[in-house]
Amino acid sequence: MYYSDELIEDIRMKNDILDVVSGYVKLQKKGSSYFGLCPFHNEKSPSFSVTPSKQMYYCFGCGAGGNVYTFVMQYENYDFVEAVKMLAERAGVELPEENNDAESRRASDLRKTLLEINKKAAYFYCYKLRQKDGRLGYQYLTGRELSEETIKKFGLGYAGKYRDELYRYLKNEGYNDVVLRESGLITFDEARGVYDKFFNRVMFPIMDVNSRVIGFGGRVMGEGEPKYLNSPETKVFEKSRNLYGLNIARTSRKPYVIICEGYMDVISLHQAGFQNAVASLGTAFTSGHASLLKRYTEEVMLSYDSDGAGVKAALRAIPICKSAGLRVKVINMKPYKDPDEFIKNLGKEAYEERIQSAQNAFFFEISVLEEQYDLKDPESKTLFINELAKKLLIFEEKIERNNYLEAVAEKYHIGFANLEGLVNKFGLQMDPAAKRQEEPERAKKKLDADSAGEQGQKLLLTWLIEKPNIYPQIKKYITIEDFDEGVYKTVALHLFEQLEQHKLNPAQILNIFQNQEEQGKAAALFNTKLEALEGKMEEEKAVKDIVLKVKQHSLENLNKNSDPSDMAGLQRILAGKSILQELEKLHISLD
Ligand code: GTP
Ligand code: MN
Repeated sequence: MYYSDELIEDIRMKNDILDVVSGYVKLQKKGSSYFGLCPFHNEKSPSFSVTPSKQMYYCFGCGAGGNVYTFVMQYENYDFVEAVKMLAERAGVELPEENNDAESRRASDLRKTLLEINKKAAYFYCYKLRQKDGRLGYQYLTGRELSEETIKKFGLGYAGKYRDELYRYLKNEGYNDVVLRESGLITFDEARGVYDKFFNRVMFPIMDVNSRVIGFGGRVMGEGEPKYLNSPETKVFEKSRNLYGLNIARTSRKPYVIICEGYMDVISLHQAGFQNAVASLGTAFTSGHASLLKRYTEEVMLSYDSDGAGVKAALRAIPICKSAGLRVKVINMKPYKDPDEFIKNLGKEAYEERIQSAQNAFFFEISVLEEQYDLKDPESKTLFINELAKKLLIFEEKIERNNYLEAVAEKYHIGFANLEGLVNKFGLQMDPAAKRQEEPERAKKKLDADSAGEQGQKLLLTWLIEKPNIYPQIKKYITIEDFDEGVYKTVALHLFEQLEQHKLNPAQILNIFQNQEEQGKAAALFNTKLEALEGKMEEEKAVKDIVLKVKQHSLENLNKNSDPSDMAGLQRILAGKSILQELEKLHISLD
C-alpha cells in the first residue's frame, strides 16, 4: 500500500507521542522531557526519554529512538505499514482503500514486485509437489517423517527436473527479465542462457517475520553437492537479518527461543511441538540475528549439532548473543547429530528434558576448554585453571563473578580464595586494550557509527538542530553534496529544506526512514546533547572546526575518486579548495 507523505505526516501529528508511549511505559516529568524505564532493554534506572516538543523518544542507555511510528514498530514488532494502520485507527484517520490508483505505483515498486515473485514461486513449487512429477519430492519429505500438516504449514515444495519451468511460468505472469534477474530465482548466463536457479530439489520457502516469502533454500533429494542451495541476497532477502521459522516462533509465547543450525531441524522441532525454534539461513549467526531475536525474547537456547563444527558455531554464537543482551544456554544433543535426529530417535519428551537440563553458556565454554587439558596431569591442570581464571574476568559485577567463582572452584576442587587471587592477578595484568578485545561486537559497532567523516557530519547536523541560526552563515559553503551517502545525507537534505523555510520539524524527518536502524541513527542526532563548552567563543570555534572538518572530508573524497582526465571534476576540487580557504577566515556567530 502506498501512502502519501502528507497522510503519513497527518497521522503522526494526530498521535501525540507522549499519549502513545504513556500507554506502554510509565513516565515521569523531568524538565522538558519525560523519563521512564526503557522497554527495549533491561535497566534499573530510567534512561528512556520522551520529548513532546520534538515529538520524539530516545534511550540514552541503548540508543533506541525515533518518532511515534518508530516506537510502535519497535514495541509491537510491526513493519511501517502496520504501524501506519494502527496509528491511523487510533486517531480516527481514514486510510485510502487498498484497491485504488495507488495500486499501480505499488506494482512499480521493486521490493513489492520481488515479494510477489517470491510468493508466486512458492505457490508454484507447492503446486509442483502435488503433481505427478512431484512424487519424488513428496516421497522425500514424507520419508523424512514430515506430516502433511507440516509440509503445508512450512509451504514446502518441489522444483522439477526441467531447467526453465519457473522462468516460463513467471514470464507468463508478465514479469520482465530485469526484475526476474533481481529476484535471484532465475540465472542469466551469457554462455548457457537463461535457466532456473533451482531444479530437482525440495524447496523450503524462507519467510520474514511477517510471513512474506523472501527467498528459498533447496535441498537435493538424497546425496549430492551442494546439499542445500539458497537464494542469493536480494533487495528483499537479507540473510543476516532474517531467521528461518521466526515468523512462527515469535508468536509461540515461550519465554525463550531455540536456535538450531538447519531448516530440517526447525521443521522437526516445530512438528514435535517446539514452535519456538529458528535457524540462520545457511550462514553463520550474526549480531543482526541476535538483535532481531532480542526484540522477541530475553533468552536463547542453542541447539547446535553435536559435532566439532556445531560446538565451534556455538562458541561463536555465545558472545554475539550475550552482547545483544540475551541470556544463553546450550542444549546437549549427544549422542545424536542434530535436533532432527535426536527427536526421531528419542522423541519430544526427551528433548524437553534436554531443554530443562541445558547448560549455562559459561559452563559450556569451560567444559569445551576442559577437553583440551588433561586434568590428571598437574602441569596441564594448572594451565587449565589459569585459562579458567582469565575467563572469569568476563563478569564485571562482583556478585555475579563470585557466584561463578564459587561454582567453578567447587567443580574443579580449587579453593575459592586461591581462584579469586588468581582472577584478581589476571585482572590487574590485563591492559585496557585487551579488555576492549573482549567486546569485539560492541567496539566494532562504535567504530562503524563514528567512522571518521561521519562523526563531523553528525556533529554538524546536531549543531544545526540545536542552533538553527548557524545555517544561514554556512549554507554558502556546505551543501548536501558534502555528506557521505547514507542516513546523514538524507537528514541533511530535509533539514536544510526545513531550515530554508524556517520550519524545523525533526519528527517529520524521521518519517522518511522506514527501517528501525536508520530511524534510530537519525533520532540520535536530535537527542545528542552537545558537549558543554566553556563559553561562547569556544563554542563558535568548535562549530567552525566541525564545518571545516566536513568540508575537508568531502574534498578528500573528491580527490580520492577523481579521474585526472575529468576536467569538471578537477574544477570542483579547485572550487572546493577555495571555499575551504574562505571558510578558514569565516567567523561563525552563535548569537
Ligand atoms: P539435512 O541434512 O537435510 O538434515 O539438513 P540439515 O539442516 O541437518 O543440514 P546441515 O546440518 O548439514 O546444515 C545446516 C544448514 O546449513 C542447512 O539447513 C543449510 O541452511 C546450510 N547448508 C548445509 N549445506 C549447505 C550447502 O551445501 N550450501 C549452503 N549454502 N548451505 C548449506
Ligand atoms: Mn539434519
